[in-house]
Amino acid sequence: MNIIFFGPNGSGKGTQGAILKDKYNIAHIESGAIFRDNIKGGTELGKKAKAFIDKGDLVPDDITIPMILDRLKQDDCAKGWLLDGFPRNKVQAEKLDASLKEEKMKLDIVIEILLDRQIAKDRIMGRRLCEKDNNHPNNIFIDAIKPNGDVCRVCGGALSSRADDQDEGAIDKRHSIYYDAETGTLASAYVFRDIAANDTTINYFTLEGKNALPDVTAELISKL
Ligand code: CO
Repeated sequence: MNIIFFGPNGSGKGTQGAILKDKYNIAHIESGAIFRDNIKGGTELGKKAKAFIDKGDLVPDDITIPMILDRLKQDDCAKGWLLDGFPRNKVQAEKLDASLKEEKMKLDIVIEILLDRQIAKDRIMGRRLCEKDNNHPNNIFIDAIKPNGDVCRVCGGALSSRADDQDEGAIDKRHSIYYDAETGTLASAYVFRDIAANDTTINYFTLEGKNALPDVTAELISKL
């Protein structure tokens, strides 16, 4: 089962991705990790990518896409893959589609988590970490997991927030790319939506991301 998963930061994509990974016993391929692995491993593509990254430039698609295809061919992808974080723009989506077809890799499912941009931002900025247990989720903007005053709703432990989650400029920058429906990540999702509209072997569906996490999971399961 080969899946591409779209959703903005803050949409709970990671949680739903883990469910897909377990259900189909497929590899969860996160595009950022592919860069890191290639650079760390000193591969030819990694060396080329690093030269761009060191200059502060974006890595061109003719390096990124072969890296991704290479990753999707590795042993842990034998039962399929879940691609997360790529493509990020319309041109990449068109190139990825062409490359998958060339490689005769069959895309089965494309999922898009719908979530209003402001809600996505609130959810990131509202995350709180429990000092006593990382597995105690707290979020000041999500009713189901709202902290108990200013302490952990589960154990009463002190709460803190990650600096990344409070970096409003960085969140806005990422979301500006994601929510750009003309050339950005949403546009890339729509490339696959259009392909699926003419190809009954590809199941493209959306999930209502504003719902509570268990409800999003239920919707996911019902649409698979
Ligand atoms: Co706690």
